[in-house]
Amino acid sequence: MDNIDFIFSAPGKAILHGEHAVVHGKVALAVSLNLRTYLRLKSNSTGKVSLCLPNIHTFMSWDVSSLLPLRPSTLDAVLVQRLHHFTGFPSEMPDTCAMAVLAFLYIYISVFAESRWSKEELELINSWAFQGERVIHGTPSGVDNAVGTWGGILRYHAGTITPLSRVPVLRILLTNTKVPRSTKSLVAGVRDKIKKFPSVMHPVLESISAVSVTCELTLEEIASDPMPEHYAVLEELIDINQHHLQVLGVGHASLDTLCRTTLAHGLHSKLTGAGGGGCGITLLRPEPPSAELKDCGYDCWETSIGVPGVCLHSASSLTEEVAQALNSN
Ligand code: PMV
Repeated sequence: MDNIDFIFSAPGKAILHGEHAVVHGKVALAVSLNLRTYLRLKSNSTGKVSLCLPNIHTFMSWDVSSLLPLRPSTLDAVLVQRLHHFTGFPSEMPDTCAMAVLAFLYIYISVFAESRWSKEELELINSWAFQGERVIHGTPSGVDNAVGTWGGILRYHAGTITPLSRVPVLRILLTNTKVPRSTKSLVAGVRDKIKKFPSVMHPVLESISAVSVTCELTLEEIASDPMPEHYAVLEELIDINQHHLQVLGVGHASLDTLCRTTLAHGLHSKLTGAGGGGCGITLLRPEPPSAELKDCGYDCWETSIGVPGVCLHSASSLTEEVAQALNSN
């Protein structure tokens, strides 16, 4: 492979509504967040390829010649196993860094030397990102890779992606409870519950879908004619969905603390993503948020929604802080 030095970034994402239900063919609404994750990929004539993921403090390099023999003819679990073996990461419960590196290597090996980068290639990027998701959690719906690729606000329904034509200005507080959880086992738990109580759970999934659709309509109204009453509607939908997610069995005490603490300040929160800990989102009113969540030991980021999807950066376009982080290894 020729000398290359690529810097990519993808936006953060939050599922506003529809997590878990989306796995079962219901509607989800996902937003990109202005909290970007960077990746630097370097390879040179000495035959080394290096990966730098500064957001998760992961820097690794390999001999290209040692990667090539791992290249598969088809996508399969055998490659994932080989990569576990190659990297020395454990197969059972790999941590975030290990999963990120495994997903990277899987995609890198598979698309080796295909550094095409154009608008038309977004479909390709999305499909490879989906394979990365499969490495990380088995049977993803595809909503996460779609919003990471295209950004904006997306309605996702059974593989059909519809971007919202206008993106309203909304501020979100993203809180990481730091409680680790496995998306794979939470998705499996929901599947078991649906199997056990189909007549109880199907209406819950249907209602979550309706929450997504109602939220989408409200966001469209906000984008064209924002009114203070819209906040109350969005907040009520957040509460309804959070209760539904509890019924699906993906709540957690740390998320209850988030909801209780923010509600004490008149703000409404729900889990985002798989639940069972992980991250929650809070809809912010125009007033500044309280510092109380940080006192619970959580990490909080205030951010805007609907930012661009995956980007290729030139070194000169990076902020000083990002450039430093990418050059720090
Ligand atoms: O926990 P995350 O951020 O990977 O989100 C998972 C979202 C689910 O709906 C639970 C699964 C999926 O693939 O859509």
